[in-house]
Amino acid sequence: MSKMLKVVGASWLQTKISSYVLGFLGVLAIIALFAGQIERSQEDGNYAATVFYSEKTGYRIEFWGQSNKLADLPRGVARAYFRLDMKTTGWSLLEVETDGTYRDDIQAYAAGIVEGALTSHLIHSHLDNTVRAVCSQHDRQCDRVKDELDKSVNIWKSYAAEREATDPFWHHVSLYYTQISGMYTGWKHGTERSTNTKSDTDISELFWLNSMADVVELQRKMNITIDNNPVNKLPGLSSAFLRVVNETLENGTTTKRIYLAHNAAGSYSSMTRILKKYKLSYHKTSTDEAAVPGLSVEFSGYPGSVTSQDEFYIIRGDNHRMAVSGTTLRNYNKKLWKSVNITEQLPVGPRVTAANKLSANVSSWGRTLAAHNSGTAAKQWLVVDFAHFHRVQQGKVKDKKEIVTEITVNKDVKHTIIHRWGGGRGRGAAWLLEQVPGRTQSADLTAALLDNHYWATYGLPFFKDVAELTHVTKMEAIYGKMFSESESPRSVTFKQGHKNATSIDSIIQLMRMNNITALNDNQTKLPECSDELNCILEEADLWSALGARGDIVRRHQEAYGVIDTKIVSGTTDGDSLDLVAISSPPFTEPPKLNLTEIKMNKGNVASIYTDAFDDEPTIDGLQIRDLVKQKAEEELEMLNKDTLQPFQWSESSFNDITHEGLPDKWAFGTFKPQWSW
Ligand SMILES: *[C@@H]1O[C@H](CO)[C@@H](O)[C@H](O)[C@H]1NC(C)=O
Ligand SMILES: *[C@@H]1O[C@H](CO)[C@@H](O)[C@H](O)[C@H]1NC(C)=O
Ligand SMILES: *[C@@H]1O[C@H](CO)[C@@H](O)[C@H](O)[C@H]1NC(C)=O
Ligand SMILES: *[C@@H]1O[C@H](CO)[C@@H](O)[C@H](O)[C@H]1NC(C)=O
Ligand SMILES: *[C@@H]1O[C@H](CO)[C@@H](O)[C@H](O)[C@H]1NC(C)=O
Ligand SMILES: *[C@@H]1O[C@H](CO)[C@@H](O)[C@H](O)[C@H]1NC(C)=O
Ligand SMILES: *[C@@H]1O[C@H](CO)[C@@H](O)[C@H](O)[C@H]1NC(C)=O
Ligand SMILES: *[C@@H]1O[C@H](CO)[C@@H](O)[C@H](O)[C@H]1NC(C)=O
Ligand SMILES: *[C@@H]1O[C@H](CO)[C@@H](O)[C@H](O)[C@H]1NC(C)=O
Repeated sequence: MSKMLKVVGASWLQTKISSYVLGFLGVLAIIALFAGQIERSQEDGNYAATVFYSEKTGYRIEFWGQSNKLADLPRGVARAYFRLDMKTTGWSLLEVETDGTYRDDIQAYAAGIVEGALTSHLIHSHLDNTVRAVCSQHDRQCDRVKDELDKSVNIWKSYAAEREATDPFWHHVSLYYTQISGMYTGWKHGTERSTNTKSDTDISELFWLNSMADVVELQRKMNITIDNNPVNKLPGLSSAFLRVVNETLENGTTTKRIYLAHNAAGSYSSMTRILKKYKLSYHKTSTDEAAVPGLSVEFSGYPGSVTSQDEFYIIRGDNHRMAVSGTTLRNYNKKLWKSVNITEQLPVGPRVTAANKLSANVSSWGRTLAAHNSGTAAKQWLVVDFAHFHRVQQGKVKDKKEIVTEITVNKDVKHTIIHRWGGGRGRGAAWLLEQVPGRTQSADLTAALLDNHYWATYGLPFFKDVAELTHVTKMEAIYGKMFSESESPRSVTFKQGHKNATSIDSIIQLMRMNNITALNDNQTKLPECSDELNCILEEADLWSALGARGDIVRRHQEAYGVIDTKIVSGTTDGDSLDLVAISSPPFTEPPKLNLTEIKMNKGNVASIYTDAFDDEPTIDGLQIRDLVKQKAEEELEMLNKDTLQPFQWSESSFNDITHEGLPDKWAFGTFKPQWSW
């Protein structure tokens, strides 16, 4: 009060000084504002959040914004950060870590909340581009699928909850569903928090995002056609490649380096990609305090889903370093659909989750996946343990037995599991497992891998029984090599190409290869055809390339094809595993030469001069310049003849397909995630 009075009674000079001071403060404020903006533009892009829990108050989420020191981020039950890098690298990044002193179900729910909240708008745009885009045209059929998914979740959630105190498998199935419930809570919260998102949140849609592969077979069983893309009649376009090479270390010792590479195939509108790492400190059961062997799981994923869907995983534990890849198998045998049932048997997501957390070796991973086969998500799986190779037994293993297990699901459906032990030079480092409705077949690959130096899967069953059961053998008899496990173009490409594929770069080149000869051939007239599959097979050379792209064929063009390549590599005795990932349909780098260089070529210019002056003596400088430019462009086109342009929505005929939030041009290079925890 007295201060104010003093100002009132102050001299003119004093007043003047105080207004100067105010002005100065104002300038400071403006400077501060700019500084703040500069600082903001230098934010690190990692949006962080922590979920806290207490008995009294329940769950509480705290958003920390960007530019936090991630190592010091408050732990709570679950902490996470998310970077939206899709437009610069093709991948967003999400890392989640939970505190193992909390109960497992609390960890799972909190991990779900934090992910759902941080990625809520991406979940919406991914849904808009995929499930909602399809269902807007098939709403009644979609409702039937959603009902079936809801029913399945309700049944397995309560079934697992009753058993989780004593059975590790059901405990982890239970945690899978708990994490999705948490994700729903977080997604809802995130949606309400951001003022500009008006979309509703529907938990069935989240179940769908977690069951993308299951829906493929489920719709056949239910006689629903929400996805009748004729391309689905071809063998699956995804491929996996396992390679072992000798490597000499700097100190002269030799070791083996193992690579597992994987191409996912899918619709281009599903390319909202996130690389995720979950470090969830779970225990064996809800009563057993022992920690699970699989501590961290890294995978190439999508918004809203707690499993990869691709399928591609890297799993680290105390005594194992495993990688897993899955490639799609097709079933052409109508009778087999009877064995598809996700309420009687367990969908693939919870089985993969349990296998990742509970297995410390490849055989245990395979057995976990084999149990409770729902007949959905038919795939061939490669499972490899990098840490196991130096333990591989040398010399012949004699007992090459086959184990057959039969499980009766109901009076019509039997599920057969067959495993063949590897003979030869060893076992226990790599497994192949093929699972189709009613049947799982597996074999130890270790010896074969050491002898052949590689193994590949490309949508055609290796096991004869599986090929016969799914009628792939019949398809081969009708349509030829495209359906042959040993003679299909991809099989031949791997056979010939594996020798040179001994480094990250050369493996990338192999995995993303296209048939340029077939691509450039627009002279041969495509014959008339009536059968949809036959029409597609006219361009089999393009569809059966490892880096197949449905947008570059001439007939039945689809914005569908190979959408990424991931490669994990590690030596058998180090302890690091390195991931390199590319998010883009395959394309070739343009040749080094450029327009400026061609223009400089005097030969070109000289011939234009002579041609031009001979025919048209009145030609002026500008016209000459244009002619030179045109000539140069033609030359560049010739040079570019053998290159495959990156996919670009706005330049393609698919620009009207929903692709909300996706980059326009897909020319991303290799990306190596750097994890913080
Ligand atoms: C499947 O649906 C189609 C029409 O949508 C129908 O013609 C056909 O009879 C159905 N098949 C079975 C086995 O129900
Ligand atoms: C790799 O090293 C092993 C010995 O560790 C050797 O037997 C094998 O021939 C080597 N393979 C190649 C392709 O050099
Ligand atoms: C060579 O280096 C590797 C990895 O650094 C190490 O494991 C190995 O023991 C070394 N060998 C020798 C002979 O020093
Ligand atoms: C799964 O099996 C149960 C019991 O046999 C049956 O009631 C249900 O309709 C089946 N589900 C589907 C999708 O066929
Ligand atoms: C694999 O893991 C299972 C379960 O942890 C264990 O029972 C089995 O002995 C292991 N097998 C090998 C070959 O280490
Ligand atoms: C493998 O690489 C060599 C040397 O770079 C090359 O000559 C050969 O053609 C390549 N082989 C294949 C099948 O690409
Ligand atoms: C590539 O396409 C050409 C012509 O269409 C075909 O002759 C050739 O076999 C194909 N190459 C591969 C590796 O599939
Ligand atoms: C074949 O491709 C070339 C170069 O892209 C083009 O100029 C030509 O018109 C095409 N021919 C046909 C028959 O489409
Ligand atoms: C094209 O070539 C010229 C001359 O060699 C060089 O200066 C320029 O940087 C090149 N441009 C690109 C995009 O590589």
